[in-house]
Amino acid sequence: MTTKDFTLGMKTERMTDIALAFKQTGAILAAIELELFTHIARGAGTLGEIAAALNMDEEKADRLLTACKSIKLVREVNGRHENFSDVERYLVKDSKTYFGDYLDYMAHRDYGAWEHIATNLTAVAETNEDDDRTYLSLMQDPEKAREFTVAGYEASIGLGHKLAKEFDFSQFDRWLDLGGGSGCYAIAACERQQGFKVTVLDQANVIAIAREFIDKHGLADRIDTKPGDFFGDAYPTGYDLASYITPLQGYMPDKVIACLTKARDALKPGGTILVVDYMLKDDKTGPIDPAFVNLFGVREGRYLGRVNTGAEWCEFMKDAGFVDAEYRWFTPHQLGLITARKPG
Ligand SMILES: C[S@@+](CC[C@H](N)C(=O)[O-])C[C@H]1O[C@@H](n2cnc3c(N)ncnc32)[C@H](O)[C@@H]1O
Repeated sequence: MTTKDFTLGMKTERMTDIALAFKQTGAILAAIELELFTHIARGAGTLGEIAAALNMDEEKADRLLTACKSIKLVREVNGRHENFSDVERYLVKDSKTYFGDYLDYMAHRDYGAWEHIATNLTAVAETNEDDDRTYLSLMQDPEKAREFTVAGYEASIGLGHKLAKEFDFSQFDRWLDLGGGSGCYAIAACERQQGFKVTVLDQANVIAIAREFIDKHGLADRIDTKPGDFFGDAYPTGYDLASYITPLQGYMPDKVIACLTKARDALKPGGTILVVDYMLKDDKTGPIDPAFVNLFGVREGRYLGRVNTGAEWCEFMKDAGFVDAEYRWFTPHQLGLITARKPG
């Protein structure tokens, strides 16, 4: 039996919204850049106050506000403008969970490339070698590595605390976090969980930034760092937990399985592997963001990575010699959490 097509009877509105969604991107990025939400949070409420804070005439401020009201970022109550609560939490500069710089960074980095999806898919690649669009070469430039890693800290420190609350770190003594970036997951876990120690492994230019964050949090005695390529030398050993938190969508399954196998070797018998990454539903009907990351992982005919389903992750774990693989959603719109065990 075919399911009912929910678009029956609809006009062109839905397709227009999808095809011209870049207008929303432009409006939210402008509001972030001009610090509209921050000005509102700091007390600018009337159109006049907001225009003065933005240093523009009221007509222009009104156009920006109207756009933001139409996409439900801001609302007007008794003549004064307010941020919606998620905007207040994540897009106001004074907030500890501000991630406007991350959105700005990601949108500007990727925006232009989205014009070329069709040619990316139809182009025939001459080589599938790493080039300057992959993590490895991106991080060779200390400035780019700093920009990426600082933006990554901002984007993920909240998720680090969420993982530390939801994942039982108390059963582990030593954790090897591969591709640990800014160290935000290690920092959050150490702040919430006494005793255990972490090694963050990442590329040298990233580790330099991670050290700054670790020192700032006073955790240098519990989090050590190791510069390196996780496809390179064998990993240090003696850990009861190893993880890859979001680097693996940048690689194809053969490389993912090779990494997981190396992580298995670094673990003590009975140790746990943890992967947090973009994940697709097993029937591949979404979620939207992972589906788009997956689509974006083809450039000029070359694969720059892959987003996998939970079931596929469990297969990779099995191929790498792990048992008891399980998966669940960590953030239901985006990230899966996969665990498995090295046989005891
Ligand atoms: C998306 S970031 C995630 C960082 C951190 N786990 C987090 O979630 O905030 C991916 C990280 O993996 C690192 N990475 C990717 N490939 C790597 C490799 N082959 N060896 C070492 N690190 C790698 C990158 O340098 C980057 O810091």
